[in-house]
Amino acid sequence: MDLFERLKDLREKGLSEIDKAQTEEKLNDVRVKLIGRKSELTEILHSMKDVEPEQRREIGQSVNKVRDLFNQKLDDAKNELVEKLIAEQMAKEKIDVTLPGRSNHLGSKHPIYIILDDLEEFFIGMGYKVVQGPEIETDHYCFEMMNLPKDHPARDMQETFYIDPEDLLRTQTSGDQARVLEKHDFSKGPLKMVGPGKVYRRDDDDATHSHQFMQMEGLVADKNITMGDLKGTLELMAKHVFGQNRQTRLRPSYFPFTEPSVEMDVSCFNCDGKGCAICKYTGWIEVLGAGMIHPNVLENAGVDSSVYSGFAFGVGLDRFAILKYGIDDIRDFYTNDVRFLEQFSREEK
Ligand code: PHE
Repeated sequence: MDLFERLKDLREKGLSEIDKAQTEEKLNDVRVKLIGRKSELTEILHSMKDVEPEQRREIGQSVNKVRDLFNQKLDDAKNELVEKLIAEQMAKEKIDVTLPGRSNHLGSKHPIYIILDDLEEFFIGMGYKVVQGPEIETDHYCFEMMNLPKDHPARDMQETFYIDPEDLLRTQTSGDQARVLEKHDFSKGPLKMVGPGKVYRRDDDDATHSHQFMQMEGLVADKNITMGDLKGTLELMAKHVFGQNRQTRLRPSYFPFTEPSVEMDVSCFNCDGKGCAICKYTGWIEVLGAGMIHPNVLENAGVDSSVYSGFAFGVGLDRFAILKYGIDDIRDFYTNDVRFLEQFSREEK
């Protein structure tokens, strides 16, 4: 076969191979094969030495023409491939701007936190500081510092979740009282604090009892603090939360860490004091325990009880929420039913 014919043949085969290459990788292989250093074209150029001198020029031109043609076609094919890829990707990633948007689901504050945040603001406004005690409390702070030595019968009221003999899930936030009393420097002014948080008890769960609930401890200590200060403070708080018309009453009670001790009741939201199943037919629902700080608690924390006195209270925040919003089962707070929780979104401030 003479060189012209070989060239013609190569041209045809080359063009059809370029046509068939459908990926960038295959195109590259074809490029190497057709115009690379070891290609047939290069070989033809090398064999020119055997050609008559007058034909060399012509063959050289033809080889160049075929190489230019291959180059051109290879470039075209590559451009076409890239354009096709882009078009495919654009079609896949098409955004339909006419589709309706996805709405974000906004959660709402838990009802107990609505009450808690409101109360914190109320007490901060009266000069209290907010403290946060540990949820895993020591026997020392939860009981012993609070005038409840080991084997004290009043521990039975709060039979508990111990982790080891000295640590437990706190049964009350009252340990916060001892923690702040120990640290306070009375030469800098009175001590006023509230300490909210979760507490745990071996209570039998019913409509107003849960083995886990929220408390807010409160404490004021200084010279000349009286029971009158306590009563005024509790009444102000109750009116702030429940409005002017709700009835409250103080009842004598017993706590090892206060003397005298009281409990505050609020008239039942459900029967308005007439008596029903929720208030166990008493007309009242207990919301907090309180009293004058027992001298032993002051002394345990290194505070001179002949100079200083104070009051303390422990609010059941769940009970506050029950009474404020008319909720008939405390367990609703902890079952995470969105239909229940959503109802409070309007109450948020
Ligand atoms: N700690 C008591 C309870 O959990 C409440 C309380 C707090 C009573 C402070 C008096 C003073 O029942």
